[in-house]
Amino acid sequence: MASDSSVRNTPLNVVLVGFMGCGKTTLGSRLAQMLGLKFVDMDECIVKKAGCPIPEIFAREGEAGFRRIESEVLDELTAGGNMVIATGGGVVTVPENLPKLRMLGFVVWLNPPERSIWNRVSRNRSRPLLQTENPRQTVRDLLEQRRPLYAGVADLEADTQGLTPDEAAYGIAESVRLHFSR
Ligand code: S3P
Repeated sequence: MASDSSVRNTPLNVVLVGFMGCGKTTLGSRLAQMLGLKFVDMDECIVKKAGCPIPEIFAREGEAGFRRIESEVLDELTAGGNMVIATGGGVVTVPENLPKLRMLGFVVWLNPPERSIWNRVSRNRSRPLLQTENPRQTVRDLLEQRRPLYAGVADLEADTQGLTPDEAAYGIAESVRLHFSR
């Protein structure tokens, strides 16, 4: 894959978007292995840049402060290629991020059903936006707001329901190869 990108002189990146708990990190690292690309997790980059965990960024600077750092990380990534990038679920809520995501590479929306998202996020209490009285309803509301944004930015929608991360990554890898061979 890497040699393709140098010939084409365009960024060969795969950008995974989708709601919290849709499997971007697990699937993304498998996909990167399969394609021989580097795996980059935007949440990890944000934590590194801020020097503290995500809940602390939200507590100190609010969601707006978190989004500012997230957008800076996105800008920094536009300089690179040959990556599978797992974005944070809310990256699509900042309108200026949308053209940047599209310019970054082939955008894949991981879109499992709400039920599987809930199963995953309810096991983990580290997400500040879900610290509400009724987190299940918050998931529903945020999903309703964000689904059109994911749909608008994505080149490919992947319904990963019933697939293992490996099976899902294999299918997406085929689409990525096809896309970059054109
Ligand atoms: C967020 C999703 C999180 C993280 C932050 C905000 C969101 O990433 O960026 O808690 O707004 O949906 P994951 O999608 O990796 O959980």
